Amino acid sequence: MGDTAKFIVEGKEVESPILKGSVGPDVIDIRKLYAQTGAFTYDPGFTSTASCESALTYIDGDEGVLLHRGYPIGQLAENSSFMEVCYLLLNGELPSAAELDGFTRTITRHTMVHEQLSSFFKGFRRDAHPMAIMVGVVGALSAFYHDSTDISDPVQRRISAHRLIAKIPTIAAMAYKYSVGQPFVYPDNKLSYAGNFLRMTFGVPAEEYEVVPAVEKAMDRIFILHADHEQNASTSTVRLAGSSGANPFACVAAGIACLWGPAHGGANEACLNMLREIGTPDKIPHYIERAKDKNDPFRLMGFGHRVYKNRDPRATVMQKTVREVFDALNVQDPLFETALRLEEIALNDPYFIEKKLFPNVDFYSGIILSAIGFPTTMFTVLFALARTVGWVAQWNEMIEDPSQKIGRPRQLYTGPTQRDYVPVGQR
Ligand code: SDX
Repeated sequence: MGDTAKFIVEGKEVESPILKGSVGPDVIDIRKLYAQTGAFTYDPGFTSTASCESALTYIDGDEGVLLHRGYPIGQLAENSSFMEVCYLLLNGELPSAAELDGFTRTITRHTMVHEQLSSFFKGFRRDAHPMAIMVGVVGALSAFYHDSTDISDPVQRRISAHRLIAKIPTIAAMAYKYSVGQPFVYPDNKLSYAGNFLRMTFGVPAEEYEVVPAVEKAMDRIFILHADHEQNASTSTVRLAGSSGANPFACVAAGIACLWGPAHGGANEACLNMLREIGTPDKIPHYIERAKDKNDPFRLMGFGHRVYKNRDPRATVMQKTVREVFDALNVQDPLFETALRLEEIALNDPYFIEKKLFPNVDFYSGIILSAIGFPTTMFTVLFALARTVGWVAQWNEMIEDPSQKIGRPRQLYTGPTQRDYVPVGQR
């Protein structure tokens, strides 16, 4: 591709520079286009728009590639740990053993929340959706940490990042405990990040909670698979909120709110509910037809992706993890067979082939989480738990970018042109 793009607007020719990344599509830098032509570009849904420069995560949708700071997701899922991936996303390089140990210790020692935070939960009904609780409680965290909300101070940004990564599992577990009427379980610093989360969620004061190593590893791997994903809707929400100078706790709360949508992180909950509605494999053709029917709002939840057009590499790892968890817990779930059959049928259906629809990261996660014992309403909470490191890493990258300005898109206005007010007696 050349190094400039030419536009001709009402006979006037203007040139815009083409910028190249280290890999992936070039971008046409249109920052001066409105000043040069008086016209905006138009891209609702941002299907052709790069909103920022980033060095965190690279996705190749055609090849099904996902890299975090250059490392393929499959290698990280196989060989790394969520704490190591957090360090990598925040710092850009894999840690030495000593660096990883120090980072893990820092996160471990921030897992406790202010005791006053427990009072927030009492305002919710017991049957409140845990995502509603997460939005509220995480947003309120800034009320407790005035010493780390000066976003111009890199030290305070770092402390906030550590606090959010460390406390999100504690708050997530508290949201679950509140919903089942059980007492909150305090963090245990002897446990791993995933093990601590499992104990805070499923442990009870009356007995010792035994962390099952295979489940702990599956949980850690699920966190890795959900850690970051370029400029998805919730990350873009965090960046936009952060561009106004809002504190990181408020920005992450905004990200949680966006992630909740069934087209985004809410798809894992919606997918399991869909599999339950389908029930047995013989009902699959009926639902496939519904998904293809333009007049039917039904979509196959857990299928399709804005970027991946061949396969979501995370779904591949997720499917493998299902079997490991099932073997470790000696569980059988007929929904897994239904899911495998649904995937097989959908991937051979001309409509899905033409639309390039296939399982995404949300398709199998619900089955695993259900097998581990999480209720469906907790699935997106776990997505938010894992994505918090991506949100804070992307937020910090944006704040550190000297060229960053407040995000303020324009519009194509199609409303009424100016007209005079008519008194009510004359209408
Ligand atoms: C996540 O962006 C990210 O990176 C997100 C994420 C992350 O890690 O942050 O990867 C996490 O959100 C994964 C996606 C989870 N969502 C779902 O599983 C919900 C079901 N999927 C769809 O809603 C949809 O596929 C989206 C939202 C994921 C993608 O939507 P796009 O890119 O805007 O595509 P589209 O809606 O324009 O669909 C293209 C065509 C349409 O048909 P036409 O209008 O062209 O005729 O495909 C059809 C759609 O009707 N289609 C589906 C479908 N998804 C798209 N048809 C049936 N079932 C589906 N699931």
